[in-house]
Amino acid sequence: MNPSSSSLLYDLPTILERMVLAQLFPRPQPLEVELGCGDASFLIAYARQNPGRNFIGVERLLGRIQKLDKKGRRGGLANTRGVRIESAYFLEFLLPPRSATALHVYFPDPWPKKKHRRHRLIGERFPALARQALARGGAVFLRTDDADYFQQMNEVFDAAKEFERTETPAELAEITTDFEREFNLQGIPTLRAAFRVLNF
Ligand SMILES: C[S@@+](CC[C@H](N)C(=O)[O-])C[C@H]1O[C@@H](n2cnc3c(N)ncnc32)[C@H](O)[C@@H]1O
Repeated sequence: MNPSSSSLLYDLPTILERMVLAQLFPRPQPLEVELGCGDASFLIAYARQNPGRNFIGVERLLGRIQKLDKKGRRGGLANTRGVRIESAYFLEFLLPPRSATALHVYFPDPWPKKKHRRHRLIGERFPALARQALARGGAVFLRTDDADYFQQMNEVFDAAKEFERTETPAELAEITTDFEREFNLQGIPTLRAAFRVLNF
């Protein structure tokens, strides 16, 4: 695949079987996934810094994931692909189990109204989906501006016995997302948490 000419968006051949990662990437390397990658400004910068890893950005909006394609091709990235699909479905049914070393979920839609909170991605089911996706020692990295959602994120992971708290590495925290830059410019700080899979 020549990344400067081929689309970096992966057209799922089926949504009924798991992906074969060798079909997405030229090299088998540790895999990291960003769920709800938006305009992919975080993912592209991170992928550029880490050529020895593979990256998948998951996003449901076409206009946004097309930005991943455009930026990634401009940067000649062979280690980055975008998949247009719903994040929980991607984790549950498409990503091979135990295949990711990291999941990044940054500024997921907060669904602030109480009656809409069931739509939040990081709810009671999420730790089990993350556990299925993560390889030994893998971690989930979370960021949000929303204090209520942050509390929920911490509660669901603290209740999940398969995870323990860990730190976000400084070099990862330094790479900001599109929404994060906007919030920070308005004086709204980033709330950050990270959880590592415990090995049983
Ligand atoms: C608030 S934006 C944050 C985008 C990016 N992470 C950032 O920080 O700049 C949330 C993004 O997640 C996408 N999204 C929301 N729910 C999703 C879902 N269930 N599956 C896939 N993408 C989703 C939205 O389309 C949007 O691009």
